[in-house]
Amino acid sequence: QEAHAAEMERTFIAIKPDGVQRGLIAEIISRFERKGYKLMAIKLVVPTKEFAQKHYHDLKERPFFDGLCDFLSSGPVLAMVWEGEGVIKYGRKLIGATDPQKSEPGTIRGDLAVVVGRNIIHGSDGPETAKDEIALWFEPSELVSYTSNAEKWIY
Ligand code: PPS
Repeated sequence: QEAHAAEMERTFIAIKPDGVQRGLIAEIISRFERKGYKLMAIKLVVPTKEFAQKHYHDLKERPFFDGLCDFLSSGPVLAMVWEGEGVIKYGRKLIGATDPQKSEPGTIRGDLAVVVGRNIIHGSDGPETAKDEIALWFEPSELVSYTSNAEKWIY
């Protein structure tokens, strides 16, 4: 019953333009869904470059910052909020290591991507980032609150 408490953990997950263009939306969503995580918000958006710079603000000193922001704003991004026990850390596990050459087979990047600049998906790296990224990408009213029938079998 604890797991049904109001403050279940949430994370921000985005399928980047390469993942959307390659037709990997359903494949990626299904991995989160089958694990038992719950979709709370979802929308397809083309971020502006300024928005991408806000999203990646922590990386502005990095040499790849400009290219990464150009890439994120180059086409539709599928922005999502997923909820469930341990979803921040375990979501990163489902995604796999940043560099697809180092991510394990069985992970999203391990199975579906080849290079770091085209690694198809983003996931928040901790509770603070998750909170900030959800607030950046979504209005509070876009987060849907509902009880899924599956939950009683998952928790
Ligand atoms: S770090 O070093 O821990 O800060 O980097 P990391 O968290 O692994 O990655 C942060 C985001 O930067 C992207 N990244 C790159 N993009 C392009 N080229 C290179 N070389 C590169 N290295 C890291 C990486 O994919 C992360 O973006 P997201 O969207 O969060 O996956």
